[in-house]
Amino acid sequence: MHSQHRLMLERAQSYQLSRPMIPSRVPSPTSLPVDERTGTIAFAFDIDGVLVRSKDPLPGATEAISMLQKLGVPFIFLTNGGGKTEEDHVTLLAKRLELELSAEQFVQAHTPFRDLIPQLQHKNVLVLGGTYDSMRLVAEDYGFKHVYTTSDIYRSFPNIYPFDELTSEYHKSAGREVELDSAGMLQISAILIWSSPRDWGTDLQFMLDLLLSHQGFVNTISSLNGNKSLPNNGYGQDGQPSIYWCNPDLTWATSHPLPRVAQGSFRAALQGIWLSQTGLDHIPNETTVGKPTKATYLYGEKTLVAYNNKVNDEDTPQIEIVYMVGDNPASDIQGANSFVSPRGFEWKSILVESGVHVAGTSPAHSPTHIVADVLEAVNLAIAEWTTGNCQNSLSKSSTLVDLTELTIKEEELEK
Ligand code: G3P
Ligand code: MG
Repeated sequence: MHSQHRLMLERAQSYQLSRPMIPSRVPSPTSLPVDERTGTIAFAFDIDGVLVRSKDPLPGATEAISMLQKLGVPFIFLTNGGGKTEEDHVTLLAKRLELELSAEQFVQAHTPFRDLIPQLQHKNVLVLGGTYDSMRLVAEDYGFKHVYTTSDIYRSFPNIYPFDELTSEYHKSAGREVELDSAGMLQISAILIWSSPRDWGTDLQFMLDLLLSHQGFVNTISSLNGNKSLPNNGYGQDGQPSIYWCNPDLTWATSHPLPRVAQGSFRAALQGIWLSQTGLDHIPNETTVGKPTKATYLYGEKTLVAYNNKVNDEDTPQIEIVYMVGDNPASDIQGANSFVSPRGFEWKSILVESGVHVAGTSPAHSPTHIVADVLEAVNLAIAEWTTGNCQNSLSKSSTLVDLTELTIKEEELEK
């Protein structure tokens, strides 16, 4: 028996499930006897609401992660959070959990933007989210060479937002002069939203301006807008910037007792304004990564495989099952349930009750299992794997959605 299997078996024997498990109707590779298996399980952990809540570690988080480290079970963090480099974010999480973690295990909401470097590296991009220079620094760390923030635009074009009483001092101090071209113009090729925008009024106004502009030039308006002989009545038909979102979450779990609005809510606000101004119910040239999109699960799986190959020796078992442990049914659970692994991995979902999902309520997307917290999730997965009997504590009958519209084209993101 592989040493990892032996250690997992020992762990499983000491664990008592707190809820009854119902045999799965779906045959699984875990139905092989444990000593005949050559593969392993792996984990993808959501962070907010699973491992931490705001700055505080959640009960069982440190124990769950350190147990996997001892067992040599590969895992990654798959979060819709961001706003920092992967190195900075993993350092913060490691400190909060009092563990050693690697940035190579870390997929944030905007990590897939790294794959946009070949096409946008030398273009002017507008980045939204964060405060002061934080998003510019992350974007530059990824390799983007010409990065602007809304504060930069404000500094050069102070009239873009008329209700600046509360924010003008901030934008003046946070922004820097933009580089105009030889005609005195600024052209933005893409808008990348990295985390929740802070000054919604200015950001919404400026995004709308660019969506209605001629080829993304600031302070222009397209003559094609409203032309009924063109597709979409001429809107989005004039080389306007592409928009890249990285977090569809409408809400997220913080230390506040009620969920707080997240980037998806900002997009909904823009969508509402766009609809009322153009009559169109979709924003043109937009793509979205982040859970639950296929693009992010592809990126996560790629990261997991690379990490497993790096940290484990040659006879390490290959990954057969990935458990996505999350607190948000619409994000973590829907994404894992919908994802079809190109490598043939089986993705299962475990919903915890320590974040967005409220115990006793019925989640909109049914996970493979529901448990109290991350430690119970890990114990359950190990028990399921080592008993050689794949079991479901719930039926997996979530509403599958077509994620193609939410997903960056694979040729843009897949290496
Ligand atoms: O949507 C906000 C974000 O912080 C949620 O993070 O770790 O729950 O995906 P996470
Ligand atoms: Mg979460």
